[in-house]
Amino acid sequence: MATLPKVVGRVRELRAAVAGFRAEGAKVALVPTMGALHAGHVALVDRARQMAGRVVVSIFVNPAQFAPHEDFSSYPRALEADLIKLAEAGVDLVYAPTATEMYPAGFATRIEVGGPSEGLETDFRPHFFGGVATVVGKLFIQCRPDFAMFGEKDYQQLKVVTRLSRDLDLGVEVVPVPTTREEDGLALSSRNAYLDEDERRIAPVIHTALTRAAEAIRAGTAPEVAVATAAGMIAALGLKVDYVAARNADTLAPLKAAGEPIRLLAAAWLGTTRLIDNMAV
Ligand code: PAF
Repeated sequence: MATLPKVVGRVRELRAAVAGFRAEGAKVALVPTMGALHAGHVALVDRARQMAGRVVVSIFVNPAQFAPHEDFSSYPRALEADLIKLAEAGVDLVYAPTATEMYPAGFATRIEVGGPSEGLETDFRPHFFGGVATVVGKLFIQCRPDFAMFGEKDYQQLKVVTRLSRDLDLGVEVVPVPTTREEDGLALSSRNAYLDEDERRIAPVIHTALTRAAEAIRAGTAPEVAVATAAGMIAALGLKVDYVAARNADTLAPLKAAGEPIRLLAAAWLGTTRLIDNMAV
């Protein structure tokens, strides 16, 4: 078994380790995660290793991005198994701060990003992107990486953190990494662990519906018709659809003109598990 990566929990330890990497002349890539790692996270690490000599993975289940009724306390946590996966993936350093290291007593700052955070997830999880932007902003400032890898699976999040890094001149290049999927098309997610056998069988319907909608739009169907059909197909299998939408792929604004680049995005509940996915047209 590969040697486990060094784990630090303090900002000053992280900064000292990253200063050591810089002294070697290495570029540094950060892979922000909430742990419960799967092959999708390994793909982020692989991309990070292609772009930088040293790779830091953060593991922090961020309370600020969960509403009180959401799954913060039950969110899967598996530090030992995560470290083994990260050792095999060739990670140099793991940053796993406590909640008090990240949010010390008296913490009173929150970063709100406009633009790409408007609508979609925000209509259903209004607290979410403020929490993500705050922790990602802190992680970027704490680590000061050259690159940070984010999965296209969370497409709106990818756009929000890209905007954040640019707007606040954080100097971090946000690198998109394609979604890793199971053979039947289901996008890998730590929350897939919540699905029972029957739900797991049904779950790929979101990917199937988006694939068909993308094909239909390419063949000339109006985007609003294609997404309505996709929503119907998902609902027909018993999922509760939060949204299926066609948006401008760059800005995530509602479509205005013909010829805009289109991204389809969807979120739906399968039992008590909320699944999201998206697709390029
Ligand atoms: O995508 C995630 O796992 C989280 O939202 C992130 C980016 C690590 C911030 O907590």
